[in-house]
Amino acid sequence: MAQLWGGRFTKETDQLVYDFNASITFDKRLLPQDIRGSKAHATMLAAVGVITEEERDSILAGLDGILADATSGALEITTKYEDVHSFVEANLIDRIGDAGKKLHTGRSRNDQVALDMRLYIRGEVSALEERVLDLMKTLQSLMAENLDTYMPGFTHLQKAQPVSFSHHIGAYMEMFKRDFGRLTDIYQRLNYCPLGAGALAGTTYPLDRNLTASLLGFTGPTLNSMDSVSDRDYCIELLSACATIMMHLSRFSEEIILWNSNEYGFIELDDAYSTGSSIMPQKKNPDIAELVRGKTGRVYGALTSLLTTMKGIPLAYNKDMQEDKELTFDAIDTVKNCLTLFNGMIATMQLRKDTMAVSAMRGFTNATDAADYLVKKGVPFRDAHGIIGRLVLYCIEKNSAIDELTLEELQAIDPHFEQDIFDAISLKTCVEARNTIGAPGPVPMKAVIAENAAFLESLTIDPA
Ligand code: ARG
Repeated sequence: MAQLWGGRFTKETDQLVYDFNASITFDKRLLPQDIRGSKAHATMLAAVGVITEEERDSILAGLDGILADATSGALEITTKYEDVHSFVEANLIDRIGDAGKKLHTGRSRNDQVALDMRLYIRGEVSALEERVLDLMKTLQSLMAENLDTYMPGFTHLQKAQPVSFSHHIGAYMEMFKRDFGRLTDIYQRLNYCPLGAGALAGTTYPLDRNLTASLLGFTGPTLNSMDSVSDRDYCIELLSACATIMMHLSRFSEEIILWNSNEYGFIELDDAYSTGSSIMPQKKNPDIAELVRGKTGRVYGALTSLLTTMKGIPLAYNKDMQEDKELTFDAIDTVKNCLTLFNGMIATMQLRKDTMAVSAMRGFTNATDAADYLVKKGVPFRDAHGIIGRLVLYCIEKNSAIDELTLEELQAIDPHFEQDIFDAISLKTCVEARNTIGAPGPVPMKAVIAENAAFLESLTIDPA
């Protein structure tokens, strides 16, 4: 046990208490952030004259050494230390002696851990932005290549009206555009430096909080010391954005699973992104999509968990807040993995374009267009709806599509039908005639694709 706070205690901590309280097993991943923050703090302390320049230089070199040795494995981060902060301080003192004891001047682990978490989350926001951007690039290619790949659009999972594959993918593109925007918003809101808030009430040392903030690439310092050490909104916001990304990936996964099934056969997943069965030799399962769908639950769990942890905590820091780490780390790792794997899966899948088109043709997805055809011939819409309803019934009995009937059969149901009906209700016409903004026709689709290209080009990843 290497504790920072033994002075006022006369007894050793109970081992179970020590283990229960310690966070080193999971907060060791904050080592780079802890070192970075400590270097900025030492630099600032020297700038305001609290430590000397020699002490600063010795601290900076010591901290760099600890990071290098921990990274190479020469220095092991063990459970002998309560948390990553204790590990760094103890090792610094071992290395450089008394100057190391001055690093924690004007600082508490409360503002230190708040800083480490912000730095970590900030870096992970950028990592997530990168992955969402990669996914959007794949979606953009699928959109550009499939303007005339026709498929049924569904409502209630019943075939409804034909769309293009490009249009269907475009719906997900919109979702991930919003996800990217959410990440950017979170970055801007979290990018304030809590270091200097002390335990909860600032300090009497003349700390230059603007300098610390700017050394660490923050927009500025946070403005209330109590809020600074007890705010975890940025974790909650990120978990919320992560939960939304997973909800999108999960819906998409569900469609991939359906499309890849024998019954749909709209796509075939690449062998590299599928798995087999130990007993059934014929199987090729969409495990990646299923796992993405499944892992959505644990990311939602992290959000609910942290919201619940935070809801009863009085100001300012309380140990409950240590619970922010494992679930936030796990959720971010999960989302990053899911984005990468999902992207690879859809970039390599094969489209069964003929099967999609046949499915659209065999599902009366042109029934609305057939009714609209009659309207154009002067039939009131409600009457046209009834006529096409009877026509569909006739087709179901005959097991045929509307456009497979002869003109005579059509005219027997309604005399307004003429030869031009066949062109009016072809799959191609049904899609290509829908040209209002946001519709699947080629005019709005090309406009959206051009807009997306400019958008993707304009995006910048926030600095970690
Ligand atoms: N391991 C702690 C956490 O993650 C660090 C802050 C400890 N502060 C304290 N007053 N015990 O929250």
